[in-house]
Amino acid sequence: MDIKLLTASATETEAVGARLAALLQPGDTVLLMGDLGAGKTTFVKGLAAALNVSTPVASPTFALISHLPGPLPLIHMDAYRLNSSSDLYELGFYDLPLESSALLVEWADRVLDGLPETRITVEIASPLCRPDERSITIGATSPELNARIGRLKEMVCLD
Ligand SMILES: Nc1ncnc2c1ncn2[C@@H]1O[C@H](COP(=O)(O)OP(=O)(O)OP(=O)(O)O)[C@@H](O)[C@H]1O
Ligand SMILES: [Mg+2]
Repeated sequence: MDIKLLTASATETEAVGARLAALLQPGDTVLLMGDLGAGKTTFVKGLAAALNVSTPVASPTFALISHLPGPLPLIHMDAYRLNSSSDLYELGFYDLPLESSALLVEWADRVLDGLPETRITVEIASPLCRPDERSITIGATSPELNARIGRLKEMVCLD
C-alpha cells in the first residue's frame, strides 16, 4: 500500500525525508520522481541531515553522482541528463558500492530499467494552484520494504 502525504513547505518535505532516513539500511534504493522543482533534492537534504551527513547536499546535476559519507553512506544520483539505462554503464554505476550504501536517484524514471528492482519509490507532485504544497507518495516493490515503510505511518502525522 502506498503512503500518501501532503506537505505545506520545504521544511515539511525535509522532515518526511528525515523520517524515511530512520528506516533505511545499507543496500536500499530510493527512487525519486517528480517534475523540475518538485522537491526531490529538498527531500534528500532532509534525509541526509537526519543521517548526520556533513557534506552539503546539492542537485548533483554536473557531477551526476555524489558520495555522501556517514554512518550510512549515501550515493546521491541525478539521472536528468541521462537518456537511457545504457548511460549507467558509462557512468560507472554498476561499480558503485551499493551493498554498503543507500542509493538515492533523482529523475529515476529516465533510467528505470537499469536500476535495482527492489526499491522504495518517492513521487512528489505540486498542485498548480498552491505553490508551497506538495503531495508525496511513497511505495515499495518488496514485502520487506513495504513492511518497513509502513512504519512511516506511525512516524508522520497523517490526516
Ligand atoms: N512543500 C514543499 N516541498 C518541497 N519543496 C518546496 C515545497 N514548497 C516549496 N518548495 C520549494 O521548491 C523547490 C524544490 O526544489 P528542489 O531542488 O528540491 O526540486 P527538485 O525536484 O530536486 O528539482 P530538479 O528536478 O531541478 O532537481 C525549493 O526551492 C523549495 O524551497
Ligand atoms: Mg534536484
